[in-house]
Amino acid sequence: MQFTVNGEAIDIEADIRTSLLDFLRNVLGLTATKKGCDQGACGACTVLADGERINACLALAVQYQGRSITTVEGIASDSELHPLQRAFIEHEGFQCGYCTPGQLCSAIGMMREVDGNVPSAVTQDLTTAAVSFNEQEIRERMSGNLCRCGAYNGIVDAISQTFAETSTRAIGRARA
Ligand code: FES
Ligand code: FES
Repeated sequence: MQFTVNGEAIDIEADIRTSLLDFLRNVLGLTATKKGCDQGACGACTVLADGERINACLALAVQYQGRSITTVEGIASDSELHPLQRAFIEHEGFQCGYCTPGQLCSAIGMMREVDGNVPSAVTQDLTTAAVSFNEQEIRERMSGNLCRCGAYNGIVDAISQTFAETSTRAIGRARA
């Protein structure tokens, strides 16, 4: 199978029955992406495929040949954390950290969807050319990523702060 993973070309033999999650963890040794439910319910395994967030436990690796996969190991640059990683630390957006790799990848993919004006279930105006982005939208759009530690308020604050700084889109104020 051939992929680009975190910017590196991969050409490796693997069982075609392997999920993308098991391929990343067990074949490539990229164990930061976590296995929670292994059935698409928790979001712990979220990675980016050409920038789009997907649940790696529900994908066969063979389906994603030729695609560019980004895991949480690939979102920082050199020794610099991604701004969202710094914000998670600043806002205490985690406790045990098990869900965090999936939360980070999911939030980056989510922002791409917002910038592309993809509406969510709570978007009021479906005709707008600029989907509004606020706490309600963040909570809805991140609802597929569960946190058993309940660090949701910190997660929302971290996402809100990060994308207020890096996106051209006006972002509503996070939780008071
Ligand atoms: S491990 Fe993939 S969604 Fe839970
Ligand atoms: S930080 Fe523990 S599950 Fe989210």
